[in-house]
Amino acid sequence: MSRIVYVNGAFVPEAEARVSVFDRGFLMADGVYEVTSVLDGRLIDFAGHAARLRRSLGELGMAAPMEDAALLALHREIVARNAVVDGLVYLQVTRGNPGDRDFAYPPADTPPTVVLFTQSKPGLAESPVAEAGWRVISVPDLRWGRRDIKTVQLLYPSMAKMAAKAAGADDAWLTEPGGVVTEGSSNNTWIISGGRMVTRALSHDILSGITRAAVRALAAEAGIAVEERAFTLAEAQAADEAFATSATAFVMPVVEIDGVKVGDGRPGPLTRRLRALYVAEMRRAAL
Ligand code: PDD
Repeated sequence: MSRIVYVNGAFVPEAEARVSVFDRGFLMADGVYEVTSVLDGRLIDFAGHAARLRRSLGELGMAAPMEDAALLALHREIVARNAVVDGLVYLQVTRGNPGDRDFAYPPADTPPTVVLFTQSKPGLAESPVAEAGWRVISVPDLRWGRRDIKTVQLLYPSMAKMAAKAAGADDAWLTEPGGVVTEGSSNNTWIISGGRMVTRALSHDILSGITRAAVRALAAEAGIAVEERAFTLAEAQAADEAFATSATAFVMPVVEIDGVKVGDGRPGPLTRRLRALYVAEMRRAAL
């Protein structure tokens, strides 16, 4: 079934959607994006994604294309027009089409390009993959130094995902010299040792995950200690449990790192509990 997508003010069949070859997103990866999941036809943590979009745009000196209420209305309309039950809404905002290629930014009044589309993923929250957990490999983190901005420069994360696939794994954990973990290819990373959860502190080095923030808050409510600090691959391999968080993976158990089983090699009890807590709370609060 052909989707209805949104491009610069119009809802059109996907085959009719057009963006200029001079678009800064296409030529320079000069754009930012958000992925908001949908469960039961409702948006998960929309406010968090809208706030991060605003921040990413601000960090790049781009104006927000519309108010949050209008953005919410657009998200809801595209979900409805495509009859999405479980899945996601992808939103991209670029610096627009200056009419030519130039390293300098175009004038600030150049209209941005705003694109939304949906992906349907029936049963997203009941994924069999989450029952088995992910096997991950490590690769050096060769991304740029402002990973806190959610830009569309996703070539290196794609290469990391392909390295994982080539190794028969599900994802790649990105590491700095010394084996310190930054993030997964498109998710935040966590370990649990002695009942304490550990995840890297926010900085320019990682994306401030919306799922990360929600899981952190749920853990605090449940009285589980959360430490924000860097950890190494060796520490993760020796941990009781490990998991990744993102808008599409939710809380994803990680059961093997570079061929070494984490715990007994099955999704850990605290990880499973956090996933259940997260999905229940997000369904409850969905818009
Ligand atoms: N990726 N870190 C990176 C590098 C990411 O790309 C993502 C999300 C996250 C998790 O953020 P959140 O919890 O807000 O989804 C962390 C999305 C899902 C994607 O690119 O498809």
